[in-house]
Amino acid sequence: MNYWSARFPRLPRFESSHPLLLPSFLFKSKSNPNPNLSSTFMAAEAEDFDDGLCSTANDCPVAESPPSPSPSLPSPGRRMNGLSHGERAWAHWNSLGAPKFIVAPMVDNSELPFRMLCRKYGAHGAYTPMLHARIFSENEKYRSLEFTTCKEDRPLFVQFCANDPDILLEAARRVEPYCDYVDINLGCPQRIARRGNYGAFLMDNLPLVKSLVEKLAMNLHVPVSCKIRIFPSLQDTLSYAKMLEEAGCSLLAVHGRTRDQKDGKKFRADWDIIRNVREAVRIPVLANGNVRHVSDVYSCLEETGVEGVLSAESLLENPALFAGYSTAEWRSEANSLACELDQADLLVEYLKMCEKYPIPWRMVRSHVHKMLGDWFRMCPQLRQELNAQSKLTFEWLYDMVARLKEQGTKVQLFRNTSLDRVRPDGLVMCGTT
Ligand SMILES: Cc1cc2nc3c(=O)[nH]c(=O)nc-3n(C[C@H](O)[C@H](O)[C@H](O)COP(=O)(O)O)c2cc1C
Repeated sequence: MNYWSARFPRLPRFESSHPLLLPSFLFKSKSNPNPNLSSTFMAAEAEDFDDGLCSTANDCPVAESPPSPSPSLPSPGRRMNGLSHGERAWAHWNSLGAPKFIVAPMVDNSELPFRMLCRKYGAHGAYTPMLHARIFSENEKYRSLEFTTCKEDRPLFVQFCANDPDILLEAARRVEPYCDYVDINLGCPQRIARRGNYGAFLMDNLPLVKSLVEKLAMNLHVPVSCKIRIFPSLQDTLSYAKMLEEAGCSLLAVHGRTRDQKDGKKFRADWDIIRNVREAVRIPVLANGNVRHVSDVYSCLEETGVEGVLSAESLLENPALFAGYSTAEWRSEANSLACELDQADLLVEYLKMCEKYPIPWRMVRSHVHKMLGDWFRMCPQLRQELNAQSKLTFEWLYDMVARLKEQGTKVQLFRNTSLDRVRPDGLVMCGTT
């Protein structure tokens, strides 16, 4: 096997998901000999058709045993060469081309083929799904299936959840040769994170958060980033951000919702607090929340002053969002043009990526549901047929798309022409480089 990867089956999805795709730990119970392991993580042992790889292709050029990083590589978390932490953080960010449009971390959904599709359509950078640091350190099968990358998959943030600095460092050391930041998930608000004591529940134990960041910042050769949620109070949020910066965090992604505001549709993200964080720290800041189409991207950049934005849920439906394409729901009447590209075309491109970069079928299935949601509303029988397939194949999926198209329905994407520019490869893109 010439790709190095990591996998943990069935981490929970963070937000809404198709009922058939709910993690199996909700349905299966196993006695748990180790009270420190959540039931989700115990479910890693369970077998399932959809956990098999979708292809045996093997051209993802990542080494089986990660090489040790060069000892001469300085860590931006440390004070070296007379530069302050903030200056080093900025130098690193700029050396990556100061990415503005970024694919947010999504369990089971921001995997390599999806990242590569989003990159083709304008994303400048991407996060992996959250990986569980302890399982990543201990379980080769998890590593080999849950995390894959390739040399074009940069800039890349590899995200871990953890609550033990030594274990986090062990996991991070395995990925640092392949990424630009090791990210700590401090934002997951789900019950599973409460039980596992990670994500947003570490907001109750800031000394532990500090020790996680410090451990990585002092020992890694790539910088540490953190993805956080806000506290209900602005002052607490600002103190939190400053503490992270002091501890050695080199990049902060701020999801402008509190731990209790789980429903992104019900609660708007607070861009004002994000702007305050941006002004309070001397490291690059990214904003997350309320980015549904490309105009939101530009409004967010302008209103918050951040370096870049993360988008999650909207990209699942429309991976071409950053290139200026919108679904019908978000088309602007004034300046948008119906274009040839539709969601089924994007799905076909995604499936081709999956053939090239194999991932578990459950991830493919999840993307099919998200990208074809509007088509399935018009052709519910096809959704039922898909759900009835306990084992998927590419042949079946390509044929399903062909059948959708034969029915004459069209779910077009729209391009915001006010922001157009044409790339050298002919693809019409939106906005700045
Ligand atoms: C399917 C799914 C999986 C997610 N998994 C993660 C994750 O692994 N790590 C994380 O920090 N946030 C995760 N999130 C949260 C997103 O990264 C993001 O913070 C949140 O969805 C708000 O952004 P949005 O409004 O653009 O969707 C996930 C969200 C979704 C929809």
